[in-house]
Amino acid sequence: MQARRWRIFRIFFDIRSSCLAVPVLLLMMGLGACDRETQSPKLPASPAATAPPIDEKAAEKFLEHHWARPLAPQGKIHESTAAQGISLAPESCASCHASQFQDWRNSLHSKAMGPGIMGQLVVMPAHARGDHQACIRCHAPLAEQADSLVAAIKQAKQQRLPAGGTGGLHSQGLVCAACHVRQQEWHGPPRRDGSELSSEAKNYPHGGWKANRAFESSQFCAACHQFKDDEYALNGKLLENTYREWQDSRYARQGVSCQACHMPDRRHLWKGIHDAETVKKGIEIRTGAAAMANEQLSAKISVGNSGVGHYFPTYVTPKVVVHGFQQDAAGHKLEGTEQLFIIGRQVSLDITKEIADTRIAPDAEASFDYRAPRHQSATALMWQVEIQPDAFYLEFYRELLKYPTKGEGKRLIIEARDHASTSPYIVFSKSLALP
Ligand code: HEC
Ligand code: HEC
Ligand code: HEC
Ligand code: HEC
Ligand code: HEC
Repeated sequence: MQARRWRIFRIFFDIRSSCLAVPVLLLMMGLGACDRETQSPKLPASPAATAPPIDEKAAEKFLEHHWARPLAPQGKIHESTAAQGISLAPESCASCHASQFQDWRNSLHSKAMGPGIMGQLVVMPAHARGDHQACIRCHAPLAEQADSLVAAIKQAKQQRLPAGGTGGLHSQGLVCAACHVRQQEWHGPPRRDGSELSSEAKNYPHGGWKANRAFESSQFCAACHQFKDDEYALNGKLLENTYREWQDSRYARQGVSCQACHMPDRRHLWKGIHDAETVKKGIEIRTGAAAMANEQLSAKISVGNSGVGHYFPTYVTPKVVVHGFQQDAAGHKLEGTEQLFIIGRQVSLDITKEIADTRIAPDAEASFDYRAPRHQSATALMWQVEIQPDAFYLEFYRELLKYPTKGEGKRLIIEARDHASTSPYIVFSKSLALP
């Protein structure tokens, strides 16, 4: 193992395991009369908006215990539950909760132990449980997953078997039981109609369940999507600050929780920056007409955060690239005319420096000016907004692969790199005819 590679891992580690206050300065510019490209979406109906407000103090208390990591082992499964074929495995929930299972299986939470993280875990010593926890406390938090990970790393080291593909409980990522089951007791939100459980409920499958409104609170998600005050910060801003960003937004005041946007109608979708439709709902893009003066071509585009409940984007890992370039009559990009503007919080690969922070706060807007001499063949100016959901990781994997590595870790990182390189997509494009 190369020292340098380890250094990068280590830094990632310290950050995540130990693991915005400064407001981002945004140039707010009115664009005058220009066409609206996207309609501001209707806010999703939030159960919290109609139901009485959640007792957030009580939720905090419940969640402190619920998410006390490392999570305690579940203990022995009740006979009646086992008899119904119910275990900690997500497939065992599917026969009765088919829709949640379908949605979860397609969500990123079910893919939280992909090759990118496994490639970093298999090179660690199998017995280094504390080090594993630094990652799996968010990616695969059950004690039983920690056990299956140890077994998989051992196997990978001895026989060079694909550690991610051995099918242990850890490989299923953020499983149902990690959010819903503690010490063989099932927990969930109150019933939709608000009705109480009768005393007969204990005879239901998995011995019934306990209702708690903490499941409807944004604090539920903060367990993994918000760093604590003493965790890693850069330039005075925590590296993960999504819950706080939300708290400072109008969504918190209006009772629009994380769940309202990311689990609409309680669906287990968790769509975010990797999904074009979700991103489109969250932003509003406006373009002004292209103008010519003294042979100079100029045009303006503005990107507004009209429906994202936190910064757009919230993490340091994605990058949004606004492209402006001139086209010829055949629609080809004209060499040397492209200008790029970046929306994101860019950090150095070892996460020790913040390079720039141009993310857009909720309800704020950023504008970009294209200015260049007109190309002799130009007939149009093209705007494109490109989303690169895994920009940071792609660079990180490429860097790791520059150092001599072998075996399972290398195979997995190559797989992760190839996968990350397929995630960028264009979320908006518009061609403006030149005068
Ligand atoms: C044999 C059928 C069956 C299986 C298998 C099953 N459940 Fe359930 N589950 C139920 C029933 C019935 C209820 C009660 C619904 C009610 O009373 O409103 C329930 C309730 C729940 C609730 C509470 C729902 C709410 O409104 O808050 C959760 C959460 C839950 N189950 C999760 C799971 C998970 C996770 C698994 C797999 C580890 C699982 N269940 C396996 C039948 C099943
Ligand atoms: C136990 C930790 C944990 C909890 C609790 C949790 N998440 Fe996540 N979440 C993760 C991890 C880890 C990922 C990254 C998965 C991956 O891509 O490998 C993730 C990914 C996501 C994504 C996808 C982002 C993208 O890149 O498109 C969304 C959206 C999301 N979570 C929302 C939520 C919401 C809303 C809640 C609360 C209901 C929640 N999460 C609770 C750990 C958690
Ligand atoms: C505090 C919770 C948390 C911890 C601890 C954590 N992660 Fe993550 N991780 C996330 C979330 C949330 C995402 C999705 C958003 C993003 O890309 O940052 C994610 C995404 C990732 C991804 C990209 C998606 C994927 O699955 O390929 C990798 C790789 C990753 N984490 C590796 C690690 C490693 C390695 C560690 C331990 C050193 C670690 N994480 C610790 C929350 C966490
Ligand atoms: C990241 C944590 C997380 C994971 C993983 C998760 N759930 Fe949930 N689940 C929730 C939250 C939060 C709610 C409440 C959402 C709300 O109230 O808006 C919920 C609600 C439910 C409900 C009640 C649904 C309703 O319509 O009333 C059931 C049943 C359930 N989950 C089962 C499952 C099953 C089965 C899986 C796995 C296939 C699973 N959950 C995975 C967090 C999770
Ligand atoms: C008003 C709707 C809304 C609310 C409320 C909301 N989100 Fe989002 N979220 C979005 C949209 C739209 C995106 C896609 C654009 C983006 O990535 O910023 C997104 C993206 C994400 C992502 C992808 C990663 C990234 O860098 O952007 C994560 C993780 C996430 N949200 C978690 C949360 C959590 C946790 C909460 C609550 C604290 C929350 N969201 C509240 C709408 C919302």
